[in-house]
Amino acid sequence: MGLRTVEWLDGEVPAVRLLDQTRLPAEETHLDAADVHTLVDAVHRLAVRGAPALGAVGALGVALALAQAAREGWDDARLREEIGRLRDARPTAVNLARGVDRVLPLLPQGRVAVLAEARLVLAEDETANRRLSALGADWLVERLPHRPLRLLTHCNAGTLATTAWGTALGVVRELHGRGLVALVHVDETRPLLQGARLTAWELAADGIDHVVQVDSAAPGAILRGLVDAVVIGADRIAANGDTANKVGSVGLALACADAGVPFVVAAPWSTVDLATPEGAAIAIEERPAAEVTGFGGIASAPAGTRAFNPAFDVTPARLIDAVVTERGVVEPRAHPDMSVLAGADQPLGTTRTGAARSGSTSARTRCQSQQSR
Ligand code: MRU
Repeated sequence: MGLRTVEWLDGEVPAVRLLDQTRLPAEETHLDAADVHTLVDAVHRLAVRGAPALGAVGALGVALALAQAAREGWDDARLREEIGRLRDARPTAVNLARGVDRVLPLLPQGRVAVLAEARLVLAEDETANRRLSALGADWLVERLPHRPLRLLTHCNAGTLATTAWGTALGVVRELHGRGLVALVHVDETRPLLQGARLTAWELAADGIDHVVQVDSAAPGAILRGLVDAVVIGADRIAANGDTANKVGSVGLALACADAGVPFVVAAPWSTVDLATPEGAAIAIEERPAAEVTGFGGIASAPAGTRAFNPAFDVTPARLIDAVVTERGVVEPRAHPDMSVLAGADQPLGTTRTGAARSGSTSARTRCQSQQSR
């Protein structure tokens, strides 16, 4: 896919250009956010979404705030207040705050320096996604060597959720490139349908065979033996491997654990938050009731019905067979410690203390340099 989810638009009034995901799949239109308010609103409305894409928005948003400050004569306090609003726009995906924090030290050096660093954030994300996709595909093929795979994914962790290529969908793309994908089950992803609207759109564009299913069809499909592996993305991975991702993820993991189906999280290292010890410490965004009690502006529940609408849930490390990052693979079920990859800037292969339920290798650490391939 050659599309750009997030990019910088230079000009007299610069802007952060977003592919407006609220309009997909019906329309491919851009939204040019030329001020912080518009950008924050786009983040709230999920015109741009997905943890790595939000990281790019955070970094570029600081450059945008600097441009607006120059136009409107903001003082330093106002500038930092506006940047803070962007940083806090969504609490669960660590990448948003990380993107802001990465470029913030360059604020005194001005927009050119901030923008250069922000562009690095975008470029690094694509590199990371391609690397982790290859590692994730290797991990699956090693365990399921005998057939093209029937995969299941939830929400959208593709190009649209990143700056390019995708994480969970990156693994799917990599496997498809190797001729190893039979079918992808796409959870529609209630309530905002990121699976049906966005993932199905990306898979169709790449010619990858898929079916969309209601979220509640997934556990049954897994228990009936229709799925060889589940691959999802992540919004924040705690130090022990507990993983926050789109609401509905933990149910998939429970079904996988019961059925002996590998449950894989694919995410760049920028989504791993070693400062958060475990999933219970992850803030879970709660979204408006109207997203659940109606759709497209039409009520589906009686007027006044209250709703519980967490955007994410946390899958405990004990249910996760593999967390695949560009630095290597951790098997949290056996080895709940993401910090083993902290010092790695090259892929380390798979790190574990015991054989995974679905695994076959007993080696504690197997190093396989991605570069030597
Ligand atoms: O609410 P969203 O659409 O931003 O939620 C996105 C997800 O949960 C994705 O799975 C996650 O951010 C990983 S994106 C590579």
